[in-house]
Amino acid sequence: MTQTVRGVVARGKGAPVEVTDVVVPDPGPDEAVVRVQACGVCHTDLHYREGGINDEFPFLLGHEAAGVVEQVGDGVTGVAPGDFVVLNWRAVCGACRACLKGKPWYCFDTHNAAQPMTLADGTPLSPALGIGAFAEKTLVHAGQCTKVDPEASPAVAGLLGCGVMAGFGAAVNTGNVGRGDSVAVIGCGGVGAAAVAGAHLAGATTIIAVDLDPRKLEWARGLGATHTVDAKSEDVVARVRELTGGFGADVVIDAVGRPETWKQAFYARDLAGTVVLVGVPTPDMRLEMPLIDLFSRGGALKSSWYGDCLPSRDFPYLIDLHRQGRLDLDAFVTETIALDQVEEAFAKMHHGDVLRSVVVL
Ligand SMILES: NC(=O)c1ccc[n+]([C@@H]2O[C@H](COP(=O)([O-])OP(=O)(O)OC[C@H]3O[C@@H](n4cnc5c(N)ncnc54)[C@H](O)[C@@H]3O)[C@@H](O)[C@H]2O)c1
Ligand SMILES: [Zn+2]
Ligand SMILES: [Zn+2]
Repeated sequence: MTQTVRGVVARGKGAPVEVTDVVVPDPGPDEAVVRVQACGVCHTDLHYREGGINDEFPFLLGHEAAGVVEQVGDGVTGVAPGDFVVLNWRAVCGACRACLKGKPWYCFDTHNAAQPMTLADGTPLSPALGIGAFAEKTLVHAGQCTKVDPEASPAVAGLLGCGVMAGFGAAVNTGNVGRGDSVAVIGCGGVGAAAVAGAHLAGATTIIAVDLDPRKLEWARGLGATHTVDAKSEDVVARVRELTGGFGADVVIDAVGRPETWKQAFYARDLAGTVVLVGVPTPDMRLEMPLIDLFSRGGALKSSWYGDCLPSRDFPYLIDLHRQGRLDLDAFVTETIALDQVEEAFAKMHHGDVLRSVVVL
């Protein structure tokens, strides 16, 4: 059996997305069908549409979602129909070499649904990050469904499925920001703003938000930034150093993912500090710099996949922080939109008008 729903598909490089029929099969073993209630628009969706991730068009976009489990396949015990879940794109396997080493957040064999969703003519779709949730329903691996408190609104809970978790975790998990640390975050969209909020909750006392857009800097202040740097008119490295006693920050997070922002992160960091790359570069980007600088400045140069999170541990905890009024997730939802407004939301994201547009179904 299958069912046909509406979903947002990117058919080719750079072409505007369209809402079209998507065929969702009944869940097979270890799979689940989820009725999507909300899905945020993440920059990675735009990367997909621009061919910046891979060429496996057509894509079913959307990967930052919450909804209700509708059907489960054989062998599924972790979730049941009716459960309110946030979808995650790193369902750990428990059996690969990273999982066996006790570092499941690095899992090298994360699970996705085995069956494809298709267009009406049978063409298989590539779901963004194995999710594809700009759709009324989507098919995922049951391990991609993380149960959270149903009191949370879907628009807010869904944010944890990608950008907020990635940014928060980049600061707290990957960057290991601690009490009294100085932190700079380059790029304060949904991901970077969450890194600011994470650094704030972790006890950092100097939190420098860097962006080209003054609105982003203002939002970052609301989430805990103590200083802001306008990257359009100021020298980012010099300003971060100036704000940290001339030394640079303990942790610098690049939430843009370009060679120039990574270099800024590198040089705006104190000796033996940590650089965290959470923004996603495109395959054509190159970095050239003196190798001696990497040696002599020491410290750690890290990448953050999904904020090194464990969905089952971190999603419920972030919802708790939100419900206790300690993490303002509502601040990330700039607007709620319909399924047919994703293309407009990409334009708004491109122009810096939003932290997050969230499709509500
Ligand atoms: N590593 C992960 O697991 C993960 C997860 C989600 C998203 N991402 C990536 O994180 C990045 C950010 O995503 P987002 O959804 O927050 O995007 P966004 O478009 O909402 O935010 C990007 C921000 O960077 C700012 N910016 C752009 N160029 C800049 C520059 N040179 N200097 C300073 N600021 C600059 C923009 O003004 C904007 O505010 C993307 O590359 C996305 O693909 C990574
Ligand atoms: Zn694994
Ligand atoms: Zn994302």
